[in-house]
Amino acid sequence: MNIAILRSSVVQKALIALSGLFLCAFLLFHLAGNLLLFDTPGRYNQLAQELEAWGWLFHGLELTLLVAFITHVWLTIALRRQQKKFVPKHTHLRHKNAWAGNWAVNLTSRFMVISGSLMLGFLIIHLQQFRFHPGERNLEVLVTQLFHNPAWVAVYELALLPVGLHVAHGFGSSLQSLGFVHEHFTPRLPRWSQMVSVILMLSYALIPLAIYWQNR
Ligand code: HEM
Repeated sequence: MNIAILRSSVVQKALIALSGLFLCAFLLFHLAGNLLLFDTPGRYNQLAQELEAWGWLFHGLELTLLVAFITHVWLTIALRRQQKKFVPKHTHLRHKNAWAGNWAVNLTSRFMVISGSLMLGFLIIHLQQFRFHPGERNLEVLVTQLFHNPAWVAVYELALLPVGLHVAHGFGSSLQSLGFVHEHFTPRLPRWSQMVSVILMLSYALIPLAIYWQNR
């Protein structure tokens, strides 16, 4: 493949959108898996063991996740640099898009870089706490121990805020970048995107709180 094609802003936008949607799909599956924490004891660990038993397929999926994440961050930085070069600073066109004017759209779209960076910080801590935790591999015990501490419950609740802001804009924006343009649906896309994000984040937010409550 000609690597120069990656310098095209259209291709970059499409790849950012595709990798973003893949990461959203991960968030959905991860949530579904995490909700098994409230199933019978041992069910959550059983799922983790079943996934590990997939062997190279499971590690291939993990690698795909990492590649999607790096592609998303790397191309976003590249595209922003290009935009800074070519779009004059003092123009009203800078933040204009089809959805501009709605306060929630303005808020979420302006904070994409900040929310993305905060998410990266959260992920480093999160993976160290669970995925690469030395010693204890009983995930149910690890999760329960962590959320026994109200300070960690608070950290997770706060960390979900930038994730939610990012998804609220990113999900709809990705669909639009990939050509999902429709006279009737496009104007509703930001609202749907925000709703998807709120449902996802509220569901995630319940997990630390419920575990803390159960083990007080
Ligand atoms: C608040 C509830 C959450 C809980 C209880 C939770 C729990 C876990 C656990 C136990 C693992 C380790 C899985 C394993 O080793 O097989 C894990 C991995 C992971 N989590 Fe979370 N998580 C939560 C939220 C999130 C959020 C909001 C994100 C993304 C922003 C996220 C991203 C990840 C990633 C990328 C992995 C590594 C997946 C892998 O390599 O298999 N998690 N999480």
